[in-house]
Amino acid sequence: MSTRRKFIRNSITSLGVFGLLGPDAIAQVGNAIQSSVSQKNEVTFAEDEFTWSKIQQSFNIDRSIINLNNGGLSPSPSMVMESFKKDLDYSNELPALKMWKHLEPKIEDVREELAAEFGCDSEEIAITRNASEALENIQFGLDLKAADEIITTDNDYPRMLTTWDQISRRSGVIIHKIKLNLPVNDDELLNTIEKKITPRTKVIHVSHVLFSTGQILPIGKISKLAHNKGIEVICDGAHSFSHFPFKHSDLGCDYFGTSLHKWTYAPVGTGFLYVRKDKIKKLWPLMAAPKKLDDNIRKFEEIGTHPAANHNAILDALEFNRTLGINRKAERLRYLNKLWIDRIKNYENVHFITDVINQGKSCGIISFRIDGIDPGRLKKYLFDEHKIYFINVKIGNKQTMRITPNVYTTKEEIIKFADAIATYIKK
Ligand SMILES: Cc1ncc(COP(=O)(O)O)c(C=O)c1O
Repeated sequence: MSTRRKFIRNSITSLGVFGLLGPDAIAQVGNAIQSSVSQKNEVTFAEDEFTWSKIQQSFNIDRSIINLNNGGLSPSPSMVMESFKKDLDYSNELPALKMWKHLEPKIEDVREELAAEFGCDSEEIAITRNASEALENIQFGLDLKAADEIITTDNDYPRMLTTWDQISRRSGVIIHKIKLNLPVNDDELLNTIEKKITPRTKVIHVSHVLFSTGQILPIGKISKLAHNKGIEVICDGAHSFSHFPFKHSDLGCDYFGTSLHKWTYAPVGTGFLYVRKDKIKKLWPLMAAPKKLDDNIRKFEEIGTHPAANHNAILDALEFNRTLGINRKAERLRYLNKLWIDRIKNYENVHFITDVINQGKSCGIISFRIDGIDPGRLKKYLFDEHKIYFINVKIGNKQTMRITPNVYTTKEEIIKFADAIATYIKK
């Protein structure tokens, strides 16, 4: 913990803002992990149900429903919610003093801790309310002119594609949407991107993890290809940060935007924007900022009055993830997904749209279809009969089932899901 962060946390504690629950909960998770991990490597740790039961208890969630849509949004652990709620109450005692003067400065600690986790300078991180805000700062902020070209894909996030469409309608920028063959083959993707590049290509915008299938794309290789030709790279990391281990140096992108209410477990309304230091000056912020902030990453935070509690609770969420370990989290998610995949993969009408063969190409998100079975009806059946909740995403014109467990998902829940699917197929 940075000195500055310790100082602020101590001063906030003395103001009565922090309770005991946060640190206690971290200690409990930490103890459970430590006693187990001392004898195990990460792969066998993923199967240690006793330790995971302690981690599952860190979330106060509705256990009457099996939630397999954690890709959309994740609940926060209780310790994050406690800290968040305490800060909200404390703010409300005298917002103009207690929120603005006591709590808001903690945003600098959030910046430092996010930078440490992402592997960049803290002066390259702006705190946003979600990935959309982070990415639209970049998309609207670049000085693009008519006939400049952008390369993206048909499986990038619909809101980000809508943003490019609007920019194109307004200023004549040309958007090339590459059609992905799913599951994506890395070499084929790189070749297709390379073929689309022209002397007018300015930016390549691509997701680190596809929202539709959970496939992890080779951003590092795409950045190398782009930079060799003087093209900038925007990485949509809405689904990657805190999901599996990586650092900015693995991606090499110029810009990165993510939400923290998905895999980081921070409260709803949290995200961050990364801008490579030498690019900050030329990128216009989405909401106007004074000239003196031209070269300052904080110009992207000029959003008017907003709660401090949301972004401050990012610190607690990061601490939870660190105690858990992103590598251990990723292995557990892969293990949970393997459990249900193995139980249904031999039915000949089951097709995975995510690459589930090549290790490392996916983690917590898996998409699949079953020939002859309507995904909408299956979704309704699983909810009505088994209280299992997930979503279908539209890929092209086909509805596709997208399954995302979480660290609080139990082995029994996953097996129940797999058995319910198998029974439905047999019927
Ligand atoms: C790949 C991707 N990008 C961007 C977003 C937007 O995230 P948010 O709605 O949190 O801004 C999402 C949301 O699911 C996403 O999956």
